[in-house]
Amino acid sequence: MRPETFTGVGYARDRAGLPLEAVEVPVPEPAADQVLIRVAASSLNPLEYKLAELNFLCRTPPVALGFDVSGVVVETGRDVTRVAVGDEVAAMADLNGDGGWSATPGGAYAVAREFLTARKPPSLGFRDAAALPMCFLSAFAGLYEHVQAGDVIYIPGGGGGVGHLAVQMAARTCKARTVISSGGRPESVALARDSGADVVLDHRRDDVAAEIARLTDGRGVDVVFDATYSEQSFEETAKTVRRGGSWVVLGVGPGRTTRVTETPSPVKTILDERGARYVNVNLLRYFSEPATLDGAARVFLGHGMDLAMEWAERGVVVPHVSRTVDSGVEEINAGLRALKAGGGVLGKIAVIVDPELVAGE
Ligand SMILES: NC(=O)c1ccc[n+]([C@@H]2O[C@H](COP(=O)([O-])OP(=O)(O)OC[C@H]3O[C@@H](n4cnc5c(N)ncnc54)[C@H](OP(=O)(O)O)[C@@H]3O)[C@@H](O)[C@H]2O)c1
Repeated sequence: MRPETFTGVGYARDRAGLPLEAVEVPVPEPAADQVLIRVAASSLNPLEYKLAELNFLCRTPPVALGFDVSGVVVETGRDVTRVAVGDEVAAMADLNGDGGWSATPGGAYAVAREFLTARKPPSLGFRDAAALPMCFLSAFAGLYEHVQAGDVIYIPGGGGGVGHLAVQMAARTCKARTVISSGGRPESVALARDSGADVVLDHRRDDVAAEIARLTDGRGVDVVFDATYSEQSFEETAKTVRRGGSWVVLGVGPGRTTRVTETPSPVKTILDERGARYVNVNLLRYFSEPATLDGAARVFLGHGMDLAMEWAERGVVVPHVSRTVDSGVEEINAGLRALKAGGGVLGKIAVIVDPELVAGE
């Protein structure tokens, strides 16, 4: 029997920002193409504090957060064939719906579209499975179809949630010739290197554009994938693309990172001067502009979720969980504050939502 409500962690007032609070939300009935998941584990993403601050998907609070989930399917919509009740899965919940963190030990639930839900291999734990969906799909969207075998790629921030998975993907699945990355701390430099980067620069100390020019004999890299959301980084990385190369950015892109006002950015001019391609990938767009979630997008994202599970099981693209916290208002606020402050989180922070489910796997 599906309970009527659960106590999640989220925002109860429009644009209230951090700290999040306990919010009572309905346990949703899955639509025809959705599955209802009893959540075992989750992870933190910057998106969650940004939604609490800006509510840019215009939800009516209370809104429960926690979009990366792993757990057990407890109900399926009538058209669902990919997974069945009782399956252990990982999923990305709808970004304009409710997430699955719990504020109390009573358990938490989240619905996810069928194509954003993948069966979890038994050898992959709930915790690591829940560290993958949003960051893996972001890295996949940034690299898939934009990188050719033999390319030289620059991925700044290889110690970040998206960055470390992107470096692994580029080095181990895209057949890149050389993967260059960067970090601003010794531990993020080390994670980028462990993830397979051939060269890791220090973005706080090095003249990145000059170093990359030196490393590529003045040519520049074939592809940049910039998932840092930093205007400073955007301007720097645009200067590293070769003539006719591709500059791929995650999220809303240069000049728009505040989401409140548009700021001037030289990035498009820098890219135009090089005849480089500007590519914007943005998972949020699929949810803020539902028409973009067409058949091709569904196939692409579903394939990404399947590969996330397959590659993690094979040890090819593996999430680095640097911290694991219990699901609770205080713990989640502390983790999100650290993410917001920057420089204090390595890879991913995981959240154990249902210790019994996690212990029983
Ligand atoms: N719209 C979308 O589809 C979407 C999806 C996922 C994520 N995002 C956004 O993408 C961003 C990254 O997400 P995340 O989970 O990877 O965050 P994260 O774990 O906080 O990682 C941010 C990374 O950026 C690096 N960085 C910061 N300033 C830099 C600079 N000037 N040069 C080079 N690297 C720099 C940091 O490196 P150091 O700590 O080593 O300095 C860190 O590794 C967030 O803003 C998130 O909201 C958007």
